Formats: sequence, structure tokens, C-alpha cells
Amino acid sequence: MPDLQLRIDRPAGGLAAQVAAELRSAIRSGRLAGGVRLPASRELARDLGTSRGVVVEAYEQLVAEGFLVARQGAGTRVADLQPAPATGGARSAAKAPRRVAYDLRVGTPDLSAFPRRAWLAAMRQAMSVVPNEALGYGDPGGVPELRTELAAYLGRVRAAAVAADRLVVTSGVAQGLHLTIGVLARTGPVPLAVEDPHSARTLGLLEAAGAVPVPVPVDGEGIVVDELRRTPARAVMVTPAHQYPTGVVLSPRRRAELVAWAAEVDGVVLEDDYDAEFRYDRDPVGCLQALCPQRVVLLGSVSKALAPGLRLGWLVAPSPLAQAVRDARATTDLGSPVLDQYALAQLLASGAYDRQLRQLRRRYRARRDALAGALARWLPGAAVRGVSAGIQLYVELPPGCDEAAVVEAAAERGVAVEGVAPLRIAAGRGPPALVLGFARLPEHRIAEAVRLLAEAATTTGLRGSPRPAARR
Ligand SMILES: Cc1ncc(COP(=O)(O)O)c(C=O)c1O
Repeated sequence: MPDLQLRIDRPAGGLAAQVAAELRSAIRSGRLAGGVRLPASRELARDLGTSRGVVVEAYEQLVAEGFLVARQGAGTRVADLQPAPATGGARSAAKAPRRVAYDLRVGTPDLSAFPRRAWLAAMRQAMSVVPNEALGYGDPGGVPELRTELAAYLGRVRAAAVAADRLVVTSGVAQGLHLTIGVLARTGPVPLAVEDPHSARTLGLLEAAGAVPVPVPVDGEGIVVDELRRTPARAVMVTPAHQYPTGVVLSPRRRAELVAWAAEVDGVVLEDDYDAEFRYDRDPVGCLQALCPQRVVLLGSVSKALAPGLRLGWLVAPSPLAQAVRDARATTDLGSPVLDQYALAQLLASGAYDRQLRQLRRRYRARRDALAGALARWLPGAAVRGVSAGIQLYVELPPGCDEAAVVEAAAERGVAVEGVAPLRIAAGRGPPALVLGFARLPEHRIAEAVRLLAEAATTTGLRGSPRPAARR
């Protein structure tokens, strides 16, 4: 007889129901396979220290549900059930999940660096000062204290031109983009020029909000404004501080051209400032919005400095647009969580946010340097592009190299990396490349990850012969 390992206590719902539930779950999970004969009711009752009637009732229930089959003289057996397909269907069930030993995928900061103690202190402080009235439905554009702090912060750190009444608190850049496009798309789909290559996540989001993306190439100076002029778009989305994914900074010349273009077409520029606080070789370049606050919408969030899971961000827009976005929040979700907003205001006011940025800059700079150094050593044929900034690094593989094969071969070695081809909108435009997220891998693990990556690249035909360590 099988050891059923049923866990029974004295539930409010009755013992029979609990015995049935335990058996049901054992059958569903496959622990009790089809055809297995269950103990006689008397026997199981003795094991469980209960009356026989309880087990009989449970068995009868499961027979009625089709989990068990009872036949005169043959006892009670588990029915032959088809196993439930794994979530995601047969294809994913057939493919065993890969072990990820070195995670160089992009988008997520070092979550272990979240300043728990500072956040707790800020939250405690908020709890002690926030009046009861502030816990009601507030301004959908955000609590005034946070808007004031953010306006000062953006002026100080991003050289932005911000008045608190043109700032709307959002649940992140993603929501800011969604709301802004939603407003622009009220009269129909919005042709929106976007940098090519582009973040796959934001591209999907823009389309869902009503934009029709029009790809415009990026070169070493950022978006090519001459190409932008050839499109019908009157709205453009850019990442000037650190183009995603190529890592270039929008040059001063292109900034001027972009602003001139916006004036010519009476257009709007959406500035995704997603990781702008993280520049390692110099002070961050100020935001584009400062050049032309009447045409540029600045969007940012705490996703890289604190954690994406907080879902807290902001947008700064010209007055009518800021008001429209605020109204849109009033007719959708009525604003962001009030206590979190007060906690963030407190974190900014106390200087803890700036301290967090300083710490993270040191940590990420060391990781980026380690990654660039390891790439130079183990993959000398590849070229690191872009400035020393952010939490991802763009590396071009030698021409002719099979990007997808390198990604696959790296995964087989436990190194998770992402290719750039899926981020290219106009297919075939651009060399094979990888975008490597370095925020979560400590320096001492980076060299081994890159060695394995180089090994993977070599097996796909790319020469990755390492340079001697002394020449690093
Ligand atoms: C380039 C870029 N911008 C914006 C976002 C969204 O950021 P947030 O968490 O602020 O919504 C992402 C998320 O991956 C991103 O890659």
C-alpha cells in the first residue's frame, strides 16, 4: 500500500473534506499515479486516527468527481487521468528550463542594493507626519510634497526646467509614455518616430497606447535628424542621455537639430531619461527638456536608482499636455499610492536618494569597467560602443558573426545574454551585437562570465582568442 503522506489537522471545514482535498492534490500533482490502489477505508482511518466514516465519505466524494474509481472486490484506485499540461503548453514543457549561472540580461538594476533601511525610515517618517486627510483620493497628478521635491531634484541633477505644476507623478516611464501617447492619439493613431534599435518593451507599450512607430536610424551621435525629417511624424521618442541599446549620447549638434525640427513641424519630443543619473566618466549631460521645455516631455522614474517594483516615476510636460495627462489619470486609476509618494518625497528631502545614487554609481562603474576589461581580454574582436553609463553595455560582434548562435551557445554555458537583432525595427540594419546588463553581476564573477561567452562565440566561428592577462 502506498504511503499517502496526508497532512490532516482539525479543520473547520470537516475532516472528510480535508482528506478529500489532500488526496485530490496528490493525484493532480502526480504524486499518486493512475491505477494506484488506495488503502482500505478502515486501514486509512486507523492511520489517520479518525473514524472509518470520514474516509468513506472522502473516497465517495472523489469517486463522484472522477479522481478515484471504486470497483466491487478490487478496492479503490486512482483513476487514469491525463496529466494537466504545464503552463505555457507542450512546447515549453518539452524544453527543460536552462540553468542561468551568469545573468547578463538587461533592464533590472541590482535589487540587492535597494536601500531597505532608508526606505523604512522614510516610510516611518511619512507615517508620522501624513495627516489623515492626505490618505483620501488626492490630486491624480501626485501629492504636492513629492512634486515639489522632484521639481527641485530634476533641476539639480538633470538641469531640467521644472515647475511643480507641470510635473505629474506616474507609475514609471512606461505609464508616462502610455498616458502621453493616449492624449496625443485622441484624434487618431499617432505616427511616432522612434530610435532604431529600440527597447522592445517600450515599443510594444507605445503601440498599445495608439502610436504607429516610424523607425529612424541611430548613429554615433544619436538619432539621425535628417532621416527624421523625411518621415511624416510630428512626435518623436528619444533616449538622449544614453541611447537604448547602443549607449550613445545625443550630440550637441543633434540636440539643436532635434529642437529645431520640433519647432518646424510644431511637434513634440518625448525624452525617455530612464538611466540618466548613471554616468561614470563625467557628470551626466543635462536633459534635452531644458533646451525646449515648451516642446519636450521629460520622463523618468526610480526604477534604476531604487527598484522597478516600486512603480514610481514622473513626467514633466508643457502646461496643456501636463494638464491633459493629469486629467487622463483622473479618469483611469486616480493616481499613485499616496504613502509611497510621501516616502519618496522624504527620501529626496533627507538626501538619502542622493546617497543611494552615489553608492550605486560606484558599484555600477566598477562592474562596467570589469565587463569592458574582460571583453577586451577574452573577446578582442568585439567592440564596446557607447559611453560609460547606465546599467547595460553595447558590444558589437565582428561582422558576419551569427548573433543568435552566440546567444544560444552562451545560454548552453549558463550565460544569459541578449542580442540586439530583436531590437532592430528595420530588419538587417546594423551589425551583430549584444546588449549586456551588468548591474546584477558582482565584479569577481564577470571575468568568468565573459570567458564563457567568448568560448561560446568561438564555437560559433568567431575568433575570441584571449589576450594575455599582462596586457590588460
Ligand atoms: C529604455 C527604457 N525606458 C523605459 C523603461 C520603463 O521604465 P519604468 O520602469 O520607469 O516604467 C524601460 C524598461 O525596461 C526601458 O528599457
